[in-house]
Amino acid sequence: MKNKLFKISSICLLMGVCSFGLFKFYDYLTDDFRMGNIHHEFPEDFPFESFWQPVNTTDEEKNHLTYILDQPFHYLGKGAQSYVFSSEDDKYVIKFFKFKNLRPTLFVNLIPPVFPFLEFKNTCIERRQKRLMNVFIGYDLAYKVVKNETQLVYVHLTPTNFFKKNVTVTDKIGRTWHINLDDVYFVLQKKGEVLSSRLSRLLERGNIQKVKSTISTLLGMYVSEYRQGMFDMDHGVTHNTGFIDDGINGDQAFHLDVGQLCRTEKIKNVEYYKHDLQIVIWRINKWLVDHFPQYHSEIPQFLENEYLKWTGEELHIGAINPKFSKKNLP
Ligand SMILES: Nc1ncnc2c1ncn2[C@@H]1O[C@H](COP(=O)(O)OP(=O)(O)O)[C@@H](O)[C@H]1O
Ligand SMILES: [Mg+2]
Repeated sequence: MKNKLFKISSICLLMGVCSFGLFKFYDYLTDDFRMGNIHHEFPEDFPFESFWQPVNTTDEEKNHLTYILDQPFHYLGKGAQSYVFSSEDDKYVIKFFKFKNLRPTLFVNLIPPVFPFLEFKNTCIERRQKRLMNVFIGYDLAYKVVKNETQLVYVHLTPTNFFKKNVTVTDKIGRTWHINLDDVYFVLQKKGEVLSSRLSRLLERGNIQKVKSTISTLLGMYVSEYRQGMFDMDHGVTHNTGFIDDGINGDQAFHLDVGQLCRTEKIKNVEYYKHDLQIVIWRINKWLVDHFPQYHSEIPQFLENEYLKWTGEELHIGAINPKFSKKNLP
């Protein structure tokens, strides 16, 4: 009897482990892109009206949008909050919100809504709701306030009925999906070269001069955002910023991840923004030390000079404490 019980439990355990393994493997292959993850049932009182974007008015803008969205898009990658697809002409990306990470997990849903679990359940739900709201606010502000620094072409943060068309996307494993644009929440953005890729490309060729001008342009973009009352609470500088050269305005730095942009008047003041700039500089310096230590001796002095240029204050990179700087942010 004991033996039989042991056998059954072993088989159950094995089946569980296999199912989990298969699930993880599927997740790895597809990044779990599916319709259920880019749709969301919003509560009735969700303030969509604050995210309302009027239909692009001029015929020229409408035609441009149609031209972009008529192209097929191909899987580019994912972050914590979005699935990203690149347009066939390689000039744009479309991002769908990854609601999977923005709504309560299955575990939280399964928690019984009774004492002593209720408070914990509600806290988890509220945390996710806040996160979802912040992402929407971040994209909305980015489009309205710092369109140039984010290269956003369009944001669709509320259900509509005017597109009346599907966009065709191919996912990570080559499946094709036709997605009704009116029904989903998405943003369109110009496609750029991610900062880490650009720095690697330049440093592999030993092009230090261009690395310096790249960093200088990037810091200028951060300061431009501060001066408009915006800053990014996500300091993943090397993978969340990029560069674009549209042939008209020259090389431009931009924030490609805008999900955690926030607005505050205080950040316009150098006494506040210097702390954010310290974190940005610390991050860039750390990335260079980790990835290209052979070039590192040339960079700290340059970064310190850049800091002086934007803040009027001396800085010693070794003395930056990002945790302390973060505490001083507004
Ligand atoms: N405009 C863009 N141009 C080029 N690559 C991009 C662009 N936007 C996003 N990506 C790529 O997709 C990844 C995830 O996008 P991101 O906007 O950071 O999403 P999340 O908010 O989910 O982190 C980025 O780290 C980058 O590699
Ligand atoms: Mg990101």
